[in-house]
Formats: sequence, structure tokens, C-alpha cells
Amino acid sequence: MIKCVILLIILTSSIYDNVVVSSELNKPNVLFIMLDDFRSGIKALGDDLAKTPNIDKLVEKSFYFSNMYAQQALCAPSRNSMLTSRRPDSIMTYNFQHYWRSFAGNFTTLPQYFKDSGYRTESIGKIFHHGSSSNKTDDYPYSWSNPTYIPSTQEYRNKPVCKSDNGTLNRNLLCAVVVDFQPECTLPDIQSTEKAIEFLKEQHEKPYFLGLGFYKPHIPFKIPIEFLKMHNVEDFMKNHLRPFDIPLVAWNPYNDLRERDDVKHLNISYPFGPIPTEFAARIRQHYYASITYIDSLIGRVLKFVDLTNTVVVLTSDHGWSLGEHSEWSKYSNYEVSLKVPLIIYNPKLPQTKVAKINYIAELIDIFPTITDVAGLPKVPKCPNLLTYEEEKITCTEGKSLYLKMLNYNVTIDANKDVEGIAFSQYPRPDIYPSKLPDSDQPKLKEIKVMGYSVRTSRFRYTAWIKFNNKKFKRNWEKIFGEELYDHSFDPDENINLVNRSPELNQIKEQLKKQMMKKFP
Ligand SMILES: *[C@@H]1O[C@H](CO)[C@@H](O)[C@H](O)[C@H]1NC(C)=O
Ligand SMILES: *[C@@H]1O[C@H](CO)[C@@H](O)[C@H](O)[C@H]1NC(C)=O
Ligand SMILES: *[C@@H]1O[C@H](CO)[C@@H](O)[C@H](O)[C@H]1NC(C)=O
Ligand SMILES: *[C@@H]1O[C@H](CO)[C@@H](O)[C@H](O)[C@H]1NC(C)=O
Ligand SMILES: *[C@@H]1O[C@H](CO)[C@@H](O)[C@H](O)[C@H]1NC(C)=O
Repeated sequence: MIKCVILLIILTSSIYDNVVVSSELNKPNVLFIMLDDFRSGIKALGDDLAKTPNIDKLVEKSFYFSNMYAQQALCAPSRNSMLTSRRPDSIMTYNFQHYWRSFAGNFTTLPQYFKDSGYRTESIGKIFHHGSSSNKTDDYPYSWSNPTYIPSTQEYRNKPVCKSDNGTLNRNLLCAVVVDFQPECTLPDIQSTEKAIEFLKEQHEKPYFLGLGFYKPHIPFKIPIEFLKMHNVEDFMKNHLRPFDIPLVAWNPYNDLRERDDVKHLNISYPFGPIPTEFAARIRQHYYASITYIDSLIGRVLKFVDLTNTVVVLTSDHGWSLGEHSEWSKYSNYEVSLKVPLIIYNPKLPQTKVAKINYIAELIDIFPTITDVAGLPKVPKCPNLLTYEEEKITCTEGKSLYLKMLNYNVTIDANKDVEGIAFSQYPRPDIYPSKLPDSDQPKLKEIKVMGYSVRTSRFRYTAWIKFNNKKFKRNWEKIFGEELYDHSFDPDENINLVNRSPELNQIKEQLKKQMMKKFP
């Protein structure tokens, strides 16, 4: 292990070199930070279980969009949707298989737009989902000036490198490790951080757009053990029951968790569980510890960022259920799976405390928002969804949130600002939860049901309807399940109000009409 110690010393000494960031053009740099499966959990935003001193410092200078929703709670479709600013139905991506350029259209991405505007664009770690859904190149050369940096130790992501309670090495879910005993004496996100710092220290002739995508808090929770020790498992004891009136088709059986050795060992009943209380608390503890780990890496990176001339964005691809509804993982249309934080630091509008904007927004809004913040030409609106007469290469199905930031007024209570509407969706192979086909991650040819979900300031309404995977057609006559939640008294979405009263039926019908219009 002596090798690791020497390496550490070299790294530490190079971290404190001078910050060199400059750009000739009158355009700000952009640091675009993504976390994976991050449902929020930030101390400065009111989560008392969180330990996030570095993100806190950033948030306190930034705009925080508190009602931000993913279009689909799965990595590849969500990222492709966000980065092309189009809904999953437009890029025809609901899983990990298809690359939009060859499958749906040669659509321009957010980093590509910056690249075409004279920026140097780089990606480190997971911005696009690696693999087929980004043509095994993370969309290089279209989106990036250079190939994506994928840390070498990502190779061990599914290897048995986690020490079990009985002392053997397994493929566990809970995986707090001594970094010096890991392959190559490091972890992927640490490598990405070092790569990002190396990049930031360069002399920059052009403004840059740096996408820095961390792999955590995605499972397995392979994190340095010192971060686990900062969180007390007793703080995470909670009990959630499975609501009896949710439709079966809404349930995601968290197949990915069940495949891990330590979870397998628990013999959890299929498909509903529950996961035993103590183990559930340890999952939550590891999730929060993963966030603290990434927070420390973000702190290291931000030391090298010139905040007088760099836009910093921090967001995630979707959320994660931490036992709500007795559910785990993403793969659903619940609030906990769909909601993510969006933090935007604008060097031209630095804030003195968190500028919280409650307007309901969607991840497809990020593209036109960031380009506006950076002062690039306006991204045109796409023609009406699903009625393309010709391929529109560069356009957005979202809306810019820039004016919300520009018009933000600290003296006015931002909490009142809850306009807006968000649409999301999730596919299923069938009504009943199953491992094969995987109802959490169905392949395109297996998809028979699509759950469309709409969120307004007060309600979430979801309809699970028949979907034709060859013609990409919806049948609104054939509904397999419906959910209506009233967030004014049920923020955890435990009480399905469908068919409870005529008055609510009217609300439901209105929301349904809005969705049918959006997804005809
Ligand atoms: C796709 O668009 C890029 C630029 O946006 C262009 O270079 C490329 O030729 C296009 N490919 C096709 C097949 O049209
Ligand atoms: C995707 O990758 C393949 C194989 O490398 C390549 O032939 C193809 O041109 C790529 N597609 C696009 C749209 O660039
Ligand atoms: C040790 O624990 C792991 C994870 O719980 C389990 O998969 C493995 O079979 C156990 N090994 C032995 C030798 O008991
Ligand atoms: C799980 O089931 C296996 C096989 O039925 C049994 O050997 C094991 O003891 C069970 N483990 C627990 C934790 O109940
Ligand atoms: C913010 O709103 C208050 C109350 O309407 C107004 O007095 C103040 O001038 C506004 N400040 C800015 C910077 O617009």
C-alpha cells in the first residue's frame, strides 16, 4: 500500500497550485455538474440529515429551482431528454438501447450548442449515459471537443470489491471501502475530480463548457468509509408502509437492489418486500454518506473555478425512493423518483443567500436556460410535439427559466411562485411487476404500458395506458391504473384519491385532458 501513500502526497501538493482561468472571449465558462440518482439531500436547502458543506456554500450564492422534474426516472432516457431538450417520446428513448441520432433525429445537444458557439466542450465521467444510448462515444464528436474521460476504475463497478459483514468480498449494495485497498488505490469519482482539476488548471484560450458527471449516489454505494462514519445509522430509522390503493402497474420491484449479494442474502419477498427496518436504515445512511463523499469532491473542484466568470450548474438525472411507499430505487412516476434539485450560479447575478424559485419546471428546460444565462443565441421552440413536418435539428421542447432568475426579487416571497406544470412518463412491460421482462427497465419491444404523469402545484395525476411500441401510439381508452395525489395534505403521495368523490373526478378529468393534449 506504500504506492498509494506516495501518490496521495503528490496529489495533495499539486492541489494548491495557483488558479489559472482566463478566457479571451466575452463569454462565461460553464461548469455543468451532474450527480447520478440524486434526489437532493442538501443541508442548506433544509435537509437536516445531510452533511454538504461545499454544496451549501455554492447554493448560498445561487438560484435554486425547488420544483424541478425529470421526464423519465431512468438514466439514459432522462439524460438524452435533458441534453437534447426533448421528451422521451420525441427521441424515442425509454431505455439504454437507442441512440437518438440514428433512431429519432440528428438533434443538437446542449454541449454541442456551446461547441458550435465557439466553446471548448469537455466531458468527464457520466454526462451522457455511456454505451449504446450515446453510440458508445458519449456523443463524441458532436457534443464534445475531445473524447469523454471515463475513469479507469469504472471497470470494477460490478466486481466483488465490497467487504461483507462476514469478511468475504462480494458484489454488495452497501460498500463502504478503504480506498487504499481498492483496485488502483482509487475510486471513479476521485479520478474524475483529479481530471477536472487538471483541466481547470490549464490556460484556456476559449471559454469552456465542462460537463463533470459523478457516478454517486447511484448504487452500489461504493464510497470511502470515512464518509459513512460521518452519518449515524440511528438517524435513518424510519418505517413506511406500502399504500394499499396504488395500482400494481405503478409498483417498481427494485430488481437492481435485489441482485446485490448482501440484499440477496436477506431473502426479501418478491415483488413487494419489505426490506427489514435495520437494513433499510443502512441503505439511507449509505445514500447520505455518498452525497457527503461527492460534496467533498465538489469542494475540491470549486477551489479551481473562477467564480467571477463561470456559470455553475448542479443537477441530477432523476430522484430515488428511499423507502417511501416501502419502495426503493427509481423506475416510477412518484415524486421521490422524479424530483431533482437544480442549482444555477450566475456570475453576473451572484446572490447573498439561496434564491429559491418554486416555479414548476422540467429538465428539458435546462438547455434553453443555460444558453440564455451564457448569452448565446436563443434556442428556437420546437414545432408542436409529434407533428414534425421536417426534422428540426436545433430546437427546444422546454422553456427558458432565465427570466425567473433575472426578475427574482429577494423582497418578494419566492414561496408564492408555484406556477408551472411538469410532465413525466414511465414504461412497463405489463401490469404485474416481474424480473423477466424487467418491469423496472423494459426493452422497447417489451413495452406495452406507458404511465404518463402530470404535476401541478397541488396535484399529481398519473394514468397507466396502453402503448404500441412499434407505432409509438398511445391508447387513452385503455387505462390500466390511475393515481391522484393531493400534495396540499399528502406530500408523500400515500393516499390515492382516484374515484373518491365527484369533485375530485372533475379535477382528474381536467388533468387527464391536459395530458392527452400533450401526448395525443
Ligand atoms: C448531424 O448533425 C451534425 C451537425 O449538427 C452534422 O455534422 C452531421 O453531418 C449530421 N448527420 C447527418 C446524418 O445528417
Ligand atoms: C455511431 O457509431 C458507429 C460505429 O462507430 C458509426 O459508424 C456511426 O456513424 C455513428 N453514428 C453517428 C450518427 O455518428
Ligand atoms: C458473506 O456475506 C455475503 C453478503 O451478505 C454473502 O453473499 C456470502 O455468501 C457470505 N459468505 C459466507 C462465506 O458466508
Ligand atoms: C435465506 O434463505 C436461504 C435458503 O432458503 C437460507 O439458507 C438462509 O439462511 C436465509 N437467510 C436469511 C437471512 O434468512
Ligand atoms: C422588489 O420588490 C419590492 C416590492 O415590490 C420593490 O419595492 C423593490 O424595488 C423590488 N426590487 C427590485 C430589485 O426589483
